[in-house]
Amino acid sequence: MRELYLKAPAKINLALHIKGLRDDGFHELQMIMQSISLADRIKLKKKSGGIIVKTSHTELPTGKENLAYQAAEIFLKQNPEITQGVEIYIEKNIPIAAGMAGGSTDAAAVMRGLYQLFELEVDFNKMRQALETIGSDVPYCLEGGTVYASGRGEILEPLPFIGEKYLVVVTPAFKISTPMVYKLYDNLKGYQDFNFDLLLANLKNEGEIDWQLDYKNDLKKAAENICPEIKEIKDIFKNTKAEFTMISGSGPTVFSIYSSRELAEKAAANWPRKNDFVTAVRTIDSY
Ligand code: C5P
Repeated sequence: MRELYLKAPAKINLALHIKGLRDDGFHELQMIMQSISLADRIKLKKKSGGIIVKTSHTELPTGKENLAYQAAEIFLKQNPEITQGVEIYIEKNIPIAAGMAGGSTDAAAVMRGLYQLFELEVDFNKMRQALETIGSDVPYCLEGGTVYASGRGEILEPLPFIGEKYLVVVTPAFKISTPMVYKLYDNLKGYQDFNFDLLLANLKNEGEIDWQLDYKNDLKKAAENICPEIKEIKDIFKNTKAEFTMISGSGPTVFSIYSSRELAEKAAANWPRKNDFVTAVRTIDSY
């Protein structure tokens, strides 16, 4: 195989609870992750040696800071028998620094794709362990779907797929620094009560999702403080017959879930804030 095309889907968080600050500086989390159909597209092509990253997005770094580059570097280090290199092209469709794991999903897709490109036996555990070093959300992005993630975000328990749900994702033109949101969260001490057991029972039951349960995000207050536009976006969503509205990850992306595709598409088509990134998408199962 000389080249390969892959999709790298974005994620949203249906819940994000912070249990506390760990000794390593990270936060101990409980999260419900969900893949959505919004995706970057990645092309991998063998080359004589080294790693090159090219991208459709001018603001995306193409050197070692790029998480996809890091994934390729780890892959080549772990498989020294491979003497060739790789060219990675990223068609960037997921907003950058938006709380949808855009960089993490590119890294996971590159790792998955390189195993295919070089026809190596797939070892998901080995891949996940390697991806953990790139970022907390990267192991989840390897297979996606509906997942309970804990620890730093790297301890994964697959859950039944919540089914195809239609949603609108809105990202204001405002890049949020994740470490800054966590830091502000620590300062604000806005701890919320969370009954994660009830929430997990609801999801494992495979019935309707009860949005009255603790489907919420502990980073909301801090993210809204840093990016006041989040509140404006939520206010607009209130008038669109959404079943459920929340921020994803550390923001500033806000998403709303609708009971039908028509309602979601209508909300997206009539979105009044012209500088926002707006798209109607659906939830997807593990890939
Ligand atoms: O792991 P990742 O590099 O994606 O994390 C980005 C930042 O988010 C970390 O530097 C940290 O500030 C914060 N974070 C955290 N606890 C986690 C995950 C991320 O504090 N479990």
